[in-house]
Amino acid sequence: MDPRPIGMFDSGVGGLTVLHECLVSHPHEDFIYLGDTGRFPYGPRSSEEIRAFAFQIASHLLLLDVKLLVVACNSATAAALPWLQEMLSASIIGAVHPEAEAAAQTTRNRRVGILATEATVASGSYERSLLNLDAGLGVFSQPCPKLASMIQSGDVSSPEMVETVKGYAAPLKQAGVDTVILGCTHYPLVTPMLQRVFGRGVTLVNSAEEIAREVGEVLERREIGNDPAREGKYSFLCTGDVDTFVEVGARFLQMPFENVQRVDTAELERIGVA
Ligand code: DGL
Repeated sequence: MDPRPIGMFDSGVGGLTVLHECLVSHPHEDFIYLGDTGRFPYGPRSSEEIRAFAFQIASHLLLLDVKLLVVACNSATAAALPWLQEMLSASIIGAVHPEAEAAAQTTRNRRVGILATEATVASGSYERSLLNLDAGLGVFSQPCPKLASMIQSGDVSSPEMVETVKGYAAPLKQAGVDTVILGCTHYPLVTPMLQRVFGRGVTLVNSAEEIAREVGEVLERREIGNDPAREGKYSFLCTGDVDTFVEVGARFLQMPFENVQRVDTAELERIGVA
């Protein structure tokens, strides 16, 4: 048994989709979630820059004595996960591979679409993961430069949002995919709209569920789960404005959103890059 919390981070509120799945799947665990809202979005940034941010945040959370670190951001996973795992002596898990596995198992026509940030698409991480699982898959990637920012702004039901989603979905529909990976942790926040645009025949694979499953596997395999009789707590850190983070975060998490503290990016930047 290990009573220490699990650390988790994203560039903003997207990783709350992962946190929510984890709160449901692992109710006796404590979580510390860091949203790097002061440096959001990561999608248009270079992999070097995202990697530096990921290293700073991971190091900061490890100083808070987390027992497991979850990179709840696909852009950070694509840019930094294997490197973080090599650099830091901690258990670190992330997105991409778990959803790729679920998508490869789900597709019937072997045509898989990916919606993701520019950084994630440019990294080629999903293609590599999917083709390693099944070299015969047709993989169609669609960068969505505006989507995460529109979601993070909190206005997710505007006509402009519907048009944006339709525009990103069109090439994947054209390609005849039957499975679409929501390759950014922000995107499950607009699942109802995405499902209507793609239609019932397309399965949307959600990174949050897959990551929560992997967290469970790691807790069990390493025997680091918390006391199953207790109820877990959760708290937040953010690098941007606290009030905005609480307002948007509470709307998406739909659960009490308390214990929020600000971390200065200057403090994170002092950690430097390995
Ligand atoms: N939620 C982040 C991801 O999963 C991305 C949003 C962004 O910072 O551009 O990639």
